[in-house]
Amino acid sequence: MQIVRTGPDDERFTAWCQVWAATQRAERPDEEPRPASDHVALGRRLTTPGGSTGGTHRAAVADGTVVGALRVLLPVRDNTSVAHVDVAVHPATRRRGVGTALLQEAARLAAAAGRPSLVAEVDEPGVDEPGPDAPGRAFAAHHGWTCDLRETRRDLLLPVAEERLSALEAQAVAASAGYEVLTWRDRTPDPLLEDRALLYRRASTDTPSGDVPVGEEDWDAARVREQEAVALARGRTVLSAGAVRDGRLVAFTDLHVSPAQPERANQSGTLVLREHRGHRLGARVKTAVLRELAATLPAVRRISTHNLDTNRPMVAVNEALGFRRAGGLSTWSTRL
Ligand SMILES: CC(C)(COP(=O)(O)OP(=O)(O)OC[C@H]1O[C@@H](n2cnc3c(N)ncnc32)[C@H](O)[C@@H]1OP(=O)(O)O)[C@@H](O)C(=O)NCCC(=O)NCCS
Repeated sequence: MQIVRTGPDDERFTAWCQVWAATQRAERPDEEPRPASDHVALGRRLTTPGGSTGGTHRAAVADGTVVGALRVLLPVRDNTSVAHVDVAVHPATRRRGVGTALLQEAARLAAAAGRPSLVAEVDEPGVDEPGPDAPGRAFAAHHGWTCDLRETRRDLLLPVAEERLSALEAQAVAASAGYEVLTWRDRTPDPLLEDRALLYRRASTDTPSGDVPVGEEDWDAARVREQEAVALARGRTVLSAGAVRDGRLVAFTDLHVSPAQPERANQSGTLVLREHRGHRLGARVKTAVLRELAATLPAVRRISTHNLDTNRPMVAVNEALGFRRAGGLSTWSTRL
C-alpha cells in the first residue's frame, strides 16, 4: 500500500470521494452520503492560497485502488497550533492497518506544518446508546487519543405541528419585545455584516466545546463573505434568521441544505450575544428560520443538530421544537 498526494483536480479524487461515500453508507445506511461535489469545493478552498483555512489530501492506494482517504485542515488566521484530521477507510479494507498508516501520515504533515495538536471527529450512529461500537472510537482510543467532547445528535422530522410551532413562537415573541427578527438566504445583508463577524467570533468561544484544544476564531467581514462564497461553491443553500435591536444584529441561526440531499438540513451555528440572553431569542430565531424553510425549501424532511447535553438552554429549545436523539458526534485529540 502506498500513500499518495491527491486533491480536487487530481484523477484519483473521484475514488477518494467514493471512500467517504462508502464509509457514510456503512454508518448511516438510511442517509444519502455527502456528494463528491462537496468534497471538491471544500478541497479547492483548502488548496487555494489566501483563505482562512489551508489543507491537503492523501489517498491510500492498494493494487491501484484507493482504499483510504485523509484530509488535513490547517486554520490560518487562528488556532495555528491545530491540524484537523479527517480519516476514512473503505469498509471492505478495514482492520489491515490502512487507517493507522493514514494517521501516521497526518501526524507527519502536522509536524511539518508546526502543528502539535491533532483534532478529529467521529460520527456515532445509534439512537439509545450513542455509538459504543463506532469503529472510530476504538481506533482513536487505540492510538492513545483522548475524547474531549461528546455531543448528542438530535433530528427534527418536518413538518413541525403548527400548534407546537405557533405556541413556542408566541412565547418567544412575548418575551422579546423590542427585538425585530429577520431572515435572509446565502448572503448576510451589508448593514449587518460587521455584527455577524462578531457573532461568529463569540460563537467560537461561547459554544461549549469540552476539552477540545481550540480557541477563539478571528472573524471579520471579509471572512464572513469568504465563508458564504464557499457555501455557495459547495452548492449549499444557507437559510439564516437573526434578531436585531437598535439596528444591531444580536442573535443568529443558520441552516444548510445541499442539493444532493434536498430532504435534509443541517443546523450550523446558533448564538445569542451574552448581553441579550434571557429573552427567548434562541427560540425566536429558530422558529423564524423553520417558517422560512417550510415556505422556501418544502422538500426538507429532517434537520440534524449537535449539542453538548449540558448546554441546557439550546437543548431545551430544540426539544421544545420536537428534536429527538439520533446518535452522537465525538471529538478526539492528541498532541505530538
Ligand atoms: C476508524 C477507521 C479509520 C479505522 O481504519 P482501519 O484501517 O480499520 O484501522 P486500522 O486497521 O489501522 O486499526 C488500528 C487499530 O484500531 C482499532 N480498531 C480499528 N477499528 C476497530 C473496530 N471496528 N473495532 C475495534 N477496534 C478497532 C484496533 O485496535 C486496530 O488494531 P487491530 O486491527 O490490530 O486490532 C475506519 O473504521 C473508518 O473509516 N471509520 C469511519 C470514519 C472514522 O470514524 N474515522 C476516524 C476518525 S479518528
